[in-house]
Amino acid sequence: MPCPALPDGFDFTDPDVLHHRVPLPEFAELRRAEPVRWIPQSGNVAGFQDEGYWAVTRHADVKYVSTHPELFSSSLNTAIIRFNEHIERDAIDAQRLILLNMDPPEHTRVRQIVQRVFTPRAIRALEDRLRTRALNIAADARDRSGPFDFVTEVACELPLQAIAELIGIPQDDRAKIFDWSNKMIAYDDPEYAITEEVGQESATELIAYAMNMAADRRECPAKDIVSTLVAAEGEGNLRSDEFGFFVLMLAVAGNETTRNAITHGMHAFLTHPEQWELYKRERPATAAEEIVRWATPVVSFQRTATQDTELGGKRIKKGERVGIFYASANHDPEVFENPDTFDITRDPNPHLGFGGGGPHYCLGKSLAVLEIDLLFNAVADALPDLRLVGDPRRLRSAWINGVKELQVSTG
Ligand code: HEM
Repeated sequence: MPCPALPDGFDFTDPDVLHHRVPLPEFAELRRAEPVRWIPQSGNVAGFQDEGYWAVTRHADVKYVSTHPELFSSSLNTAIIRFNEHIERDAIDAQRLILLNMDPPEHTRVRQIVQRVFTPRAIRALEDRLRTRALNIAADARDRSGPFDFVTEVACELPLQAIAELIGIPQDDRAKIFDWSNKMIAYDDPEYAITEEVGQESATELIAYAMNMAADRRECPAKDIVSTLVAAEGEGNLRSDEFGFFVLMLAVAGNETTRNAITHGMHAFLTHPEQWELYKRERPATAAEEIVRWATPVVSFQRTATQDTELGGKRIKKGERVGIFYASANHDPEVFENPDTFDITRDPNPHLGFGGGGPHYCLGKSLAVLEIDLLFNAVADALPDLRLVGDPRRLRSAWINGVKELQVSTG
């Protein structure tokens, strides 16, 4: 039985839908009535039969798809679900240098190398510097008189600085790296007036910058993380182009995601004052995970079936795309008590905001949680009386649950 609640032509990846809201009522309806549902699209991949995707909305099924890469490939297509657009095979092939779009054994090889950047020790080593940054960001915001935009003044800075610290980008180069990163992720939203070409150019420049960095370190090794990743070309290290795409991926994966978790978190606190009071009083260690569940900055990713298979009672054919909706899984009442309640003491909190637990599970999770903790601790101390001034302005995007402006005031 087709699900009656979805109007004809409704597509969860339509940027105009996400521009206004995350489609939570539609997800709830599908979880209940048709948890694996075919969503027709008019776009296609050259040389592939591809007229839509399966929308997977239950927590258990999102986990199943994520943890079975042999059935659901990341490299046959791109990780981001496209909205009604024609894409050439070459364009997909080019994106296979990005970790998210790889399958084992290539994915296993590259992930084992880049994992060195994210060891608990490496993250701990950043903590003091990131804390100082978070305190400065909050102090600067406190000194503002009148309303200000929380996104540009508070949420943007720390995620970019964290990536720059992680891979040791020199201070003088950070402004241009930040500019390229922001341009790459903004072009879906016409308000930014950034064309796809400008987004593409920024990606090319960022990759070239990183490849130069790799070449430098190979010539003159230093005691830093880049040197350990690229020390020599060969099995245990990254090639220069692989390093270029790794930095590109960090600039996208670690930037907009954490920025939106922080912004949605602030909005959730200010619209749930009892939770803000609780946070200021007790600083529960569970808060950051609930902020990520609540925000679910990455609404979806996709996989492609490697063979005919079954999921949620539906027959999936080889080559068909399968969209996994973290935003839906994170409100699944089978797993979360009162899923639509923002509760910073929620424990356990098996949310899928960082992915469904398979080989692609977010590499930057501990860094993201650290950033969120440091920032909210600083904001709670410096700006305890923050209040909302108007509604958030949402980002137009096909896959990011984004806010581009959130006016707040301390007065
Ligand atoms: C992968 C979410 C922060 C680096 C992912 C995935 C999600 C995600 C959903 C895909 C998981 C899958 O396919 O199973 C988030 C959210 C963040 C965040 C919500 C912030 C709140 C970060 C940060 C970094 C990072 C700070 C690094 C600086 C990565 C990388 C991958 C990834 C490298 C690809 C892993 C792979 O393909 O093996 N993230 N992420 N993320 N994330 Fe994050």
